[in-house]
Amino acid sequence: MTTATLPPGPTAPPFLQGVYALTRPLRGLPRLRAKYGDAFTVHLPIFGRVLVISDPVEIKQLFLSGSELVENVEPNLGRLLGPGSFFALTGDEHRAQRKLLVPPFHGRRLKAYERIIEEETERELAGWPEGREFATLPSMMRITLNAILRAVFGAERAGRARAQFGARGESSAERAGRARAQFGACGEGSAAGAEFDELRDLLPRMVTYASRLAVLPLPPRDLGRWSPWGRFLEMRRRYDDIISRLIDTADHDPRLDDRNDVLALLLQSRYEDGSRMSHSDIADQLLTLLAAGHETTATTMAWAVERLRRHPSVLAELVDEVDAGGHALREATILEVQRTRPVIDGVGRQVKADHLRIGRWTVPRGYNIVVAISLVHEDEAVFPDAKAFDPGRFVDAKPDLYQWIPFGGGTRRCIGAAFANMEMNVVLRTLLRDFRLLPTDAPDERWRSRGVANAPAKGGLIAVRRRSAPPVPAVSQAQQPPVGAVHPPAGGLTGGAPGFVESPDDQHPVHP
Ligand code: HEM
Repeated sequence: MTTATLPPGPTAPPFLQGVYALTRPLRGLPRLRAKYGDAFTVHLPIFGRVLVISDPVEIKQLFLSGSELVENVEPNLGRLLGPGSFFALTGDEHRAQRKLLVPPFHGRRLKAYERIIEEETERELAGWPEGREFATLPSMMRITLNAILRAVFGAERAGRARAQFGARGESSAERAGRARAQFGACGEGSAAGAEFDELRDLLPRMVTYASRLAVLPLPPRDLGRWSPWGRFLEMRRRYDDIISRLIDTADHDPRLDDRNDVLALLLQSRYEDGSRMSHSDIADQLLTLLAAGHETTATTMAWAVERLRRHPSVLAELVDEVDAGGHALREATILEVQRTRPVIDGVGRQVKADHLRIGRWTVPRGYNIVVAISLVHEDEAVFPDAKAFDPGRFVDAKPDLYQWIPFGGGTRRCIGAAFANMEMNVVLRTLLRDFRLLPTDAPDERWRSRGVANAPAKGGLIAVRRRSAPPVPAVSQAQQPPVGAVHPPAGGLTGGAPGFVESPDDQHPVHP
């Protein structure tokens, strides 16, 4: 039997450490590092005692450990997204699903999505008001949700449905009913329009719920349909109903073999014994992509707006670059936003082998190890002048994949990293091309936890002028709305991002 060697950490009762972790971790983690060094053990809600690491050499070792040594942290998002979700899958099954689903989010396929994302961005930005502040997060949520729906179900299908039913100012149930009445018998594309509209209505609420529940323990018994878990299960039933209609339609599509969207790939895939994926596993995996694929990207974009309005010289250079048709600084800016404002602050693994030797530590079986993303990103030894927002550090310099880690790493690294970066690039390019962002001297927006992702507390306030309009002075503190008064633009930004205004400040928990 090998003896465990673990670093020290706080000795306060677990309950107190848990409360502290949920309410003060952003301030707590640097303090713990200052006291104990770059690795320590700490008690976290739902995970128990964990080893927290932030040395890139140890992080690299962990990320490169095979699935016989470590698997995903437990509990993980699989308990909300289902046993067929990437987060729950392990070993060969996990590898096989990655092999199947990496291609739709990489390489040439990304190029094809650029125009679609530009189109979604233009559609959303068309309703933006000029000269007054509003939160960008709801807009970013809609853009990224539509983008991922189109990637998952096929650009044509989901896009056509949106063009038909997306922007008419009626409720989703009304639109769904009208779509069925008008087109129900007319074939696959139009019938699916109703389902996409229902998903657009349901998913933001469902993801918000799932994000919050992800950091809470499972209740010991069923607390009924009005409890948070009960309400989530109710949404899940609605989701399953919509997806089973979409799966049935796709299953009967005579051109399924020619399709290369994610749903078609899953339906055509076979296990080694020749069997097909069950519909419930397909539903879990689709939910994983739809959920993981939009809130994270949207919150990062909201942070990009928040950062750029406070760095007018970077903003001015970016506009010049867009006008000149360049992209190097924009790409570097997106990397720097993710370094300084990582929307997920921890990724974890659980030791499966009898023990795992990692750097100075010997970690016993069953122990969770958490990589503290923000600690690495803020480490002066890794990123000199780490507190400064300086996109220049990434111009013509690729980040090291074990130091710059907003997407995690190794065999479980985010499957949508390239897709998300392309998406943010196109959204930012379109935004800077069509609008002048008005700088602000307001204090930085604080972090606010949405459960899994950490968003700017005021939703990434923006104030813009269309670029054809004459110049106006910057928006100063005095001109801003009172704290907490987040105004959606005229034209009705409904749905989107409930919750970012009412959560407690400065929550920044470590997430599965
Ligand atoms: C800025 C946007 C995003 C951020 C910051 C982000 C971050 C992350 C992180 C930290 C992980 C865990 C990685 C690990 O355990 O090492 C992850 C996993 C994952 N992400 Fe993302 N993500 C983003 C966008 C996306 C998009 C657009 C998609 C969909 C295409 C996506 C799909 C996934 C999936 C399926 C996993 C699980 C991978 C696995 O377990 O093998 N994410 N993401």
